[in-house]
Amino acid sequence: MTTTVLKSKINVLGVGSSMRHRSYSTATLKLILDRVVDNEGEAKLLDLQEIRLPMLYSRPNDSKEIVQVTELVKWADAFILATPDYHGSMSGSIKNFFDYFWSEFAGKTFGYIVASHEKGLTAMDQMRTAVRQCYGWSMPYGLSINPEIDFNDKMDLISRKLLLRLDMLARDLVVYGKLIREQFVNDLHQSSLVNTFAGYYRN
Ligand SMILES: Cc1cc2nc3c(=O)[nH]c(=O)nc-3n(C[C@H](O)[C@H](O)[C@H](O)COP(=O)(O)O)c2cc1C
Repeated sequence: MTTTVLKSKINVLGVGSSMRHRSYSTATLKLILDRVVDNEGEAKLLDLQEIRLPMLYSRPNDSKEIVQVTELVKWADAFILATPDYHGSMSGSIKNFFDYFWSEFAGKTFGYIVASHEKGLTAMDQMRTAVRQCYGWSMPYGLSINPEIDFNDKMDLISRKLLLRLDMLARDLVVYGKLIREQFVNDLHQSSLVNTFAGYYRN
């Protein structure tokens, strides 16, 4: 059996989707990306507030922002998606981000952050559904932030419980994300293995 080994570090792309200047979901995302690095992962941030991805099909595919985002998505082995809870749903900007890709998400693992006055569980579930539709894998738990309780006025995250969960998600995403990605890449390169879902992604 041939084995294709991934490079030693997993590439984790954090996607922030709030357009608010002092976004709690994006602030939390930045904290977790630091912890990904502490866990020997490579981390990059795609802040959709800074890279304004046009609405799907509204601009040519070689537009600068689309090319930039596509490169980052292809670089990633795993993702952490952060959204505010908007009407029990994900933000329009993260949905628009999803719409650009599908096969690029297959065999990759996703973690989720939702900022909400409630638990944000429906918004999280909608992101899970979109990821599952693209044959991505989801971490079995996510981070739900309640800004009034979890942050102070200086935008410091003060909830010890949430900080522990942040550490846990960073660690788990690096470990499980790498296992899943490695297996997917191995299956992708073993053309004798026909009946695996990775087989559908061979060129
Ligand atoms: C259009 C809109 C809809 C919202 N809907 C909800 C909602 O359904 N439930 C909720 O708990 N918060 C809702 N909120 C509040 C935001 O989720 C909350 O302020 C969140 O912290 C914003 O995240 P951010 O700081 O990352 O931008 C809504 C806010 C806006 C602007």
